[in-house]
Amino acid sequence: MSESKTVSAVPRGLWSASFRAARLTDAAERRYRLVGLLTIGLVFLVILAGGIVRATGSGMGCPDWPKCFGSWVPPTHESQLPSDYQTRYNVHGHGVEPFNAAKTWTEYINRLLGALSGVLVFGLVLAAVPLRTRTLLPLALAGIAFVLMAFQGWLGAQVVDSNLAPYMVSLHMLVALVIQFILVAAVAWRTTPVLDVPLRRLGLLRSATLAFLLLVLAQILLGTRVREAVDVAALEISDRAGWVDGLGLVYYVHRSFSILLVSGSVGLGWLLYEYTRQLGHLYYMVSVLFMLLAAEVLLGVVLAYAGFPAWAQPLHLLLGSGLAVAVFFIFMVLLKQKQSPTNRTNPL
Ligand code: HEM
Repeated sequence: MSESKTVSAVPRGLWSASFRAARLTDAAERRYRLVGLLTIGLVFLVILAGGIVRATGSGMGCPDWPKCFGSWVPPTHESQLPSDYQTRYNVHGHGVEPFNAAKTWTEYINRLLGALSGVLVFGLVLAAVPLRTRTLLPLALAGIAFVLMAFQGWLGAQVVDSNLAPYMVSLHMLVALVIQFILVAAVAWRTTPVLDVPLRRLGLLRSATLAFLLLVLAQILLGTRVREAVDVAALEISDRAGWVDGLGLVYYVHRSFSILLVSGSVGLGWLLYEYTRQLGHLYYMVSVLFMLLAAEVLLGVVLAYAGFPAWAQPLHLLLGSGLAVAVFFIFMVLLKQKQSPTNRTNPL
């Protein structure tokens, strides 16, 4: 009797302890993923806000950094500034434009969103701490995202410092994309392998997705070059509709490159189609990819042929970044899949 008590009590105790530990880890994982998803959403908002700052010409709405007109909460009216503000805050020697509350607050809200995303990434680091006993990967990814976010904050200051030098604006945008990729990797780190896919086919899917991702990144780089040309054209041509005519070769390459992207997406969709039925996440992300690409091309056409409306500029930037993130997510999901045991002897 006493022996049976001892025998049954130990495993039950152990079992319930390990069950509790597993439940705690599950809750910690869910929290980590939620904070990761929130951060991704917020970084998209920061990208959109950055696009609005540029489209409305609010980049120098705050002449100093990190404060704005020497204060943590910027003024709402010129009367709240000292009369010599245009010389006093001429910190970088580029001159200070006459005060415009809308521009100042657009730039300030952009900064606030950026700061908030820094806080959320720090939250992601904290959320990763309880997971370190299982693997260090979530903590490492959150740590890298945090360091990159701090770098991005510093880069933001350099962008203002350089008086919005086009190459600095482009670099700032590319770092934002890298941060998104790290966050996607953090959110997707626990994706379970579920696809029933032969080894060679899995290799093909991964390579095709990576190749498509590189095409998207190349198109984004071309886009940032077009944007640099737009900034130059905007200085010389007052009528927005006339900007496209002054963009030169890089614009035509960017426009034609879309044909390559659309064809590539059809090919990738065809390769992935069979597996989208096995995995809901994949189905969802491939659909998002197609919608983003269609909307992105449409916005490009609106910019080029419908008078370059200011509202389309931040949206074109946002959807372009969303497209890259969606493709990266698909790549991550494929990277987590293993060769299915049933197909081990049946390649392709
Ligand atoms: C197919 C996918 C496309 C992607 C991923 C893409 C991506 C981008 C990106 C990331 C930018 C830089 C935006 C910025 O830094 O503010 C850009 C700019 C631009 N793109 Fe595209 N683009 C695409 C298609 C097109 C098409 C089809 C056209 C024209 C027919 C076009 C016209 C433009 C123009 C005019 C700009 C300058 C916008 C600005 O100055 O705000 N794009 N593109």
